[in-house]
Amino acid sequence: MSRSGLSFRRVFLPALLLGASFAAQAEAPLPRSAGTPYAPRTLPDRIVLTPGADPSREMAVAFRTDLLQGTAEAEIGPAVDGPTLGEKAVRLTGTSRRIESSNGPALYHQLRFTGLTPDTAYAYRVKGSAGWSEWLQFHTAAQEPRPFRFMYLGDIQNGILTYASRVIRQGFHANGGIALVLHAGDLVAQRDDLDHDDEWGEWNQAGGYNYAIVPQVPATGNHEYVDVPAAEGKESRALGPYWPVQFALPGNGAAGVKATTYFIDYQGVRFIVLDGTSAIDLGTMAAQTRWLDETLASSKARWNVVLFHQPVFTCARPNDTAQIKAAWKPVFDARKVDLVLQGHDHCYSRLTNEAGSAAGIAARAGGAVQGPVYLVSVTGSKMYGLNDRAATQPDKVAEATELYQIVDVAGDRLKFRTFTASGKLYDGFDLERRADGNHLVETDEPTIARRTCTGNVGPDGGACVARSK
Ligand SMILES: [Fe+2]
Repeated sequence: MSRSGLSFRRVFLPALLLGASFAAQAEAPLPRSAGTPYAPRTLPDRIVLTPGADPSREMAVAFRTDLLQGTAEAEIGPAVDGPTLGEKAVRLTGTSRRIESSNGPALYHQLRFTGLTPDTAYAYRVKGSAGWSEWLQFHTAAQEPRPFRFMYLGDIQNGILTYASRVIRQGFHANGGIALVLHAGDLVAQRDDLDHDDEWGEWNQAGGYNYAIVPQVPATGNHEYVDVPAAEGKESRALGPYWPVQFALPGNGAAGVKATTYFIDYQGVRFIVLDGTSAIDLGTMAAQTRWLDETLASSKARWNVVLFHQPVFTCARPNDTAQIKAAWKPVFDARKVDLVLQGHDHCYSRLTNEAGSAAGIAARAGGAVQGPVYLVSVTGSKMYGLNDRAATQPDKVAEATELYQIVDVAGDRLKFRTFTASGKLYDGFDLERRADGNHLVETDEPTIARRTCTGNVGPDGGACVARSK
């Protein structure tokens, strides 16, 4: 995002709301979601399930209530098949933290479900002062490698409820059995587009109950950070107040960056989540790089997937993300990372060879092993135009197109498919693990034509909504 043209007051103000009066905001109200539907209530909402570091044994939940529910309470038990879930459920308590917002004061509650049995269905519910949520069912991971499916989403950020919700819901609707959802950062905008509490309300409404039954694996983007004053009239960045309360994450990441970096092992895949904004702007690059290398070195997983926001190879900007490329790409290469999942550029790119798509095709024809595959994708409505290199460097690109990705992992095959908002197959490849390493095989399923703007005309025949970055 460009930092120019931002209203500092509006950007900075929400950071102050935690534990402070929000009366000042009444002086200049931000645009609000239609009907202002997001006030905290006597029943829980914004319920988000997250995995423990070992999701075969641990899950966690975060949710919101009004102030009347002063303690974090949940019940969890075996997911029996009759309407008797409460009989064997146990009552748990957790921690609560107050947030002030334009929608009124709220409490965010978090609980961790530990000591779970692998490969087992559980049902849980969370409490508000007026009563319980519905029972929400999840399934723990198996301890050993086993086939599963995950969804990967790029920036939701803009048009969260208006536009991005359709994409998320289509992803769930058309693809049963999604075990995890990966978010590559910029879940919301947290600038001056909307009230920040409304944005998180929209984000939760967009995913709805799916966020409460499928563990979410979020990475921070630059928009999860808000600007704060620094010395000599300059600005620095601080993690926005919603991230730590909305996501009960494992906290097993890099030193000094534990709120936003972590890893989980899920049925033969190690997912490693990095924080590009902290690395670039807050001096944690060295700590994250060291931790990344250690976490890949210690991985016993068959597949290693890395998730973060600012892409190594950009499809929209003039230049790649230099610091991240210099620090992390050598680690990805040396440690043989399989997938690098990113956002930030508001376009689509699948890149398999830095020297370009033609070089990649030629290398594959000669039997070359495939290195890390770099993906950039976007879910919400903000779109950037493709840069010049996008014509030749990535294997596949899209412009002005909302997308979701479905990845199926089964043994020595990882199947990656990219779908448009309406569910059309846009891109697909498999990684096959052979004795010498990964081999990339293009899908033989029919994909729709390349989607880019032509002049001012967009890929759907109307206006091109992608603006140059
Ligand atoms: Fe973004």
